[in-house]
Amino acid sequence: MAQQGNFKSPARMGALEDGAPLSSAGTVSGGKAREQGLGGVNFERRSFLGKVVAGVGAAVAVTTLYPVVKFIIPPTKEFSNLNEKVVGKASEVPEKTGKIFQFNKDKVIVINDNGKITACSAVCTHLGCLVHWAPKDNLISCPCHGAKYKQTGEIISGPQPLPLNPFKARIEGENLIISKA
Ligand code: FES
Repeated sequence: MAQQGNFKSPARMGALEDGAPLSSAGTVSGGKAREQGLGGVNFERRSFLGKVVAGVGAAVAVTTLYPVVKFIIPPTKEFSNLNEKVVGKASEVPEKTGKIFQFNKDKVIVINDNGKITACSAVCTHLGCLVHWAPKDNLISCPCHGAKYKQTGEIISGPQPLPLNPFKARIEGENLIISKA
């Protein structure tokens, strides 16, 4: 009867030594012919190469998928939570202008209306567009749907449901400082 199983088992190798013939189906009846047929095969090397191929495949998969995952899941940006912060130079907001600064997690518009410095959220309470200072009209305007706010953030007209969140701003020396209201 044909023998199957572990070719390297001591019992099997013993059978091969005894001269068992090699069957045409690839099973072994034992004998030196079969020993010669397996002579070129190194099962330990095959196992090692298999692990190398699997490792390379895993490395390729990781390097391919990592940027995709990083793209799909944007990084979480960490914001500070300061009571006040020097956001820039006073010269960045000359008279009759407004400029938006990042303060903690908020975008804040600082307005210099003829020396009167005010600050409020720069995010329109309608649908979240960024507002700007319109010096000719002396008001804060939203470019998306026409919301209008006073310099201090109160509603003048438009579809927005709420005023702009208030902040404080002051100039100390050359520095422009924003603080929580
Ligand atoms: S988002 Fe500002 S008016 Fe609509």
